[in-house]
Amino acid sequence: MPKLLAKQHWDLREFTVNLPRHKGLMPTRPRSSRQASAPAAAPSARLRLATIADLDALVALENASFGGDQLSHRRLQHWITATNSVLLVAVASATLLGSALVLTRADSPAARLYSIAISKSARGQGLGSKLLRKAESLARAKGSTSMRLEVATSNTVAISLYQKLGYTVFGRKRAYYDDGQDALRMQKPL
Ligand SMILES: CC(C)(COP(=O)(O)OP(=O)(O)OC[C@H]1O[C@@H](n2cnc3c(N)ncnc32)[C@H](O)[C@@H]1OP(=O)(O)O)[C@@H](O)C(=O)NCCC(=O)NCCS
Repeated sequence: MPKLLAKQHWDLREFTVNLPRHKGLMPTRPRSSRQASAPAAAPSARLRLATIADLDALVALENASFGGDQLSHRRLQHWITATNSVLLVAVASATLLGSALVLTRADSPAARLYSIAISKSARGQGLGSKLLRKAESLARAKGSTSMRLEVATSNTVAISLYQKLGYTVFGRKRAYYDDGQDALRMQKPL
């Protein structure tokens, strides 16, 4: 059983993410064809734990990123303060560019990536990868030995992100989403 650490024991230091302009891996699609409008903000985004002051921006990001199954204001407020969650945000120039929510359970060594989203204008610049890697390291610090997640079968961009970071498919949940889509279950050892 993983030993859960109190929230104040986690590494709460903010840090700057220096995103490489060119990464060694072959992109799934040429970057020129991707959606991001490449704001200068994304490369210098800081990752930190979310606070109550981020709530409105988190709700707006959720609503802009997902057509259904969004996290409500109330649920986000809960996860910011809960002891069994890690809610990370990426911020640049006081603008919230992304978030990742990981849930842990005292009776399970597997953490769960519950949500990850990057603002449309900041996508395709490596921020999702950085956020997920940091979420993984914080889950590991809390005692989790693996990360699990669900992703819609049609969400090829997210599936590509997860595969790139080492996640593999281990199952499927039928009609898991509001729109009736199946979810792939993916996992990665931490
Ligand atoms: C999925 C998401 C978080 C990715 O964030 P991101 O910051 O754009 O991702 P990155 O720039 O770190 O890209 C990581 C990998 O994802 C894949 N990817 C990213 N954008 C892509 C695109 N437009 N087309 C195809 N693959 C893409 C690639 O494998 C990429 O690796 P590469 O750059 O080496 O080719 C973002 O697209 C998003 O917020 N989507 C809406 C919300 C969502 O679907 N969340 C996941 C729910 S399960």
